[in-house]
Amino acid sequence: MPEVTGAGGSTDAIRIDTPEYHHNPFPTYKLLREQYPVCRVEPGGIWMISRFEDVQFALKRHDLFSSAGVEVMIKPDWIREECKRDLFVLLKDPPEHTRYRAMINKAFVARVINALQPLMLDNAQLLLQQIAAGESVEFLGRFAYPYIGKVITRITGIDEEQDWEEMRVWLELVEKITPMRPDDDFIERVEAAILRQHSYFEAVIRDRRASPRDDLVTRLMEADVGGERLTDLEMRNALELMVGAGFHTTTHLLTHAMMQLARQPGLMPQLRAAPDLIPAFIDELLRFDAPVHLAPRRTVQDVCMHGVRIPKGEMVMVAMGAANRDPAAFPDPDNFDITRPNLRQHMGFGYGDHTCIGSALARMEARIALQTILARFERVSCAPDEELHWVETVTTHGVHSLPVTFQ
Ligand code: HEM
Repeated sequence: MPEVTGAGGSTDAIRIDTPEYHHNPFPTYKLLREQYPVCRVEPGGIWMISRFEDVQFALKRHDLFSSAGVEVMIKPDWIREECKRDLFVLLKDPPEHTRYRAMINKAFVARVINALQPLMLDNAQLLLQQIAAGESVEFLGRFAYPYIGKVITRITGIDEEQDWEEMRVWLELVEKITPMRPDDDFIERVEAAILRQHSYFEAVIRDRRASPRDDLVTRLMEADVGGERLTDLEMRNALELMVGAGFHTTTHLLTHAMMQLARQPGLMPQLRAAPDLIPAFIDELLRFDAPVHLAPRRTVQDVCMHGVRIPKGEMVMVAMGAANRDPAAFPDPDNFDITRPNLRQHMGFGYGDHTCIGSALARMEARIALQTILARFERVSCAPDEELHWVETVTTHGVHSLPVTFQ
């Protein structure tokens, strides 16, 4: 365990950029929760808040912890001005956030989401038919990417056949952005990707303005709140947010599901016998190892917690991933247990005003994928933990690839 000098002091021994942390952040979260619930971590001396109650508090109090903190992740100093993205609602606080969120809610209605079910089911069946029992396959490439890709392209107006592969490369580059200056080659590639993404979505919006369709992009364009509609720029920002927020999050959720099913062989027969437990399984996945662990915020004024003063204007990582393992909220938190009475209280989809807009869609994607896998295969095994490579992004937790074998 790293030695630290005290809560709120300089804690350069706790790092959230090491391979060990990316692989398994939970020992660090335990240390933080137990001894340093409000403290600075490295790199950059950013603050981390880790206890369940404190995380809820921070995510509710936008008057103290502003979502403008997300800017540090997407608009680092080293990037050209025209490449500094504006991820729309994600960066805003009420009352501006409330107005924009209402517009997205008008587009993201149950009817639109439910209409995607047949597409998900057909695609899941098709992809699984192409995997033979006993064959070793890379789960992301053979199932999760094409399965989630079909949905995300459909809702954001991307041409799946022609453009999705290129868009996926852009997404991967953009996700690697951190405040630390990378090498010049990376800067060049990521800036080019952002500009291409901008012009791609501008073309989608031009197309829908000229010929509206019965889809989410058109509904977003037509969403009217108090006589106000989204401008083209706001539409572009909303689409860029959705494609970024809705892809790797959900593919990580599916890989986490495969890992749990492989580690606990009793789960597959249990879920097959009682499919109504699948939603609880999904919630416990989101608690146990949420794809999004941290939410960046910026203090609006000095904030004092547990006797520690966080000055105004500081970056704070609000650690839902740590809160979800807080024994004060979830007894025996390191045990994966789909019968927990309060498992829906997890913060895998965030908490408060910014709670994930896509949660119903993500739940549906995961449920249909799992039902289809359970119907086709008896068992799944995964590569051992030590062979897995975890992504080195700041806020998300997932693997680069996942070799699996279905039986
Ligand atoms: C398992 C999958 C997903 C997870 C774990 C997840 C997680 C989250 C979290 C934690 C937040 C809150 C961030 C914050 O407070 O700063 C969030 C917000 C958001 N998510 Fe998701 N998400 C998932 C899937 C999706 C999907 C499928 C979409 C849409 C296609 C989506 C769209 C959004 C949007 C637009 C926001 C911003 C909401 C706001 O700022 O008001 N997410 N998500």
